[in-house]
Amino acid sequence: MILTHIDIRGLRNLREVVLSPAPGFNLIVGENGAGKSSILEAIHCLSVGHSFRTRKARELISRGQDEFTLACQMYDASTDQTHRSGLRRHRDGSTELRLNYEEIRSISPVTQLLPVKALTPDSHGLIQDGPAGRRQFIDWGTFHVEHGFFEAWKIYRRALSQRNQSLKDAVPDSEVCSWDDQLASAGSQLDSYRREYTASLQNVVSDLLKAMDSVFHVELNYRSGWTDGIELSDALTKSLQNCRRFRTTTVGPHRAELQINTDGVLAKQLLSRGQQKLLVYALHLAQLVLLHQITNKPAVVLCDDLPSELDQEQNGRVLAQLARLNSQVFLTSTEPQSLADNAVEMFSVVSGELRKGV
Ligand SMILES: Nc1ncnc2c1ncn2[C@@H]1O[C@H](COP(=O)(O)OP(=O)(O)OP(=O)(O)O)[C@@H](O)[C@H]1O
Ligand SMILES: [Mg+2]
Repeated sequence: MILTHIDIRGLRNLREVVLSPAPGFNLIVGENGAGKSSILEAIHCLSVGHSFRTRKARELISRGQDEFTLACQMYDASTDQTHRSGLRRHRDGSTELRLNYEEIRSISPVTQLLPVKALTPDSHGLIQDGPAGRRQFIDWGTFHVEHGFFEAWKIYRRALSQRNQSLKDAVPDSEVCSWDDQLASAGSQLDSYRREYTASLQNVVSDLLKAMDSVFHVELNYRSGWTDGIELSDALTKSLQNCRRFRTTTVGPHRAELQINTDGVLAKQLLSRGQQKLLVYALHLAQLVLLHQITNKPAVVLCDDLPSELDQEQNGRVLAQLARLNSQVFLTSTEPQSLADNAVEMFSVVSGELRKGV
């Protein structure tokens, strides 16, 4: 999918920004605080409804305003179709969504059409921080390549929330366990989708690291979130007393972990910060490659402040890989950059106002 037109109103310091980006690389240049990252946040919101920096609409709404409004036009070369979508989020928490002039209740049909991947200065948190970010990482990829994933995920989340509420309310065992069948069936499905996806990703990321002349190898090790070798239904039964004690469900895919090892050791223990960042880029790039391989759909890629993240050589390697993907890429920088041999559309932002060229 390629964004052909973007309209941003009332988001952070962007009062009214309209742009028609190029299909390839788009470089957004501006001083600190000009509004570069805010433009990327708007594009991320168009896909999933929230920014990569915050889920809270009120942080994004321009001070003094009651809402922000985003609209875009996108072109899908695989079907030769143009789609239009729009999103408005209000300070009171309400949201309005539209896809092709019709109101929709959930953003997931837009997310499916418009996969957006954000590579941001804190992306090395994928390796450094807790498992939640790694589950999100795996789920981003699985959602976009496996049709059944979202349905299983919705059923699982609903059943989990009900079961946890029963545990909090200290209702009888039979009531708590009445959710176990649904949880076990949707949870096992999620588990197998994630496992299959991790195995495919492993191959792609290994090849990518080789192509990027990396000195280390990566091993991805997916752990289900319950004891190895038993069914989730048995794990739920066995853990009931524990669940009662902690008043929450202690086993299941919501407790899964994606271990990222390099040469047999946890990546966060072995790699330098720069190496960790490179690995994170390689992992995200691998997801983009896999998405393209499986669905023939390129994602929109947002690179916030890439030049400050990696050294020049690594930077060049990441850009070369991005160029091979044929993705539409939005990069921000405080300085104009030449992006090797790639054609680049340049935009400059000054105090929330955007214009073409620098
Ligand atoms: N809710 C808001 N309303 C109005 N302005 C805001 C709001 N939230 C943030 N800002 C301001 O928006 C401006 C743009 O921020 P943004 O993060 O997009 O800058 P940037 O160009 O990416 O800068 P940097 O180079 O430092 O990363 C900043 O001056 C920030 O203080
Ligand atoms: Mg920024």
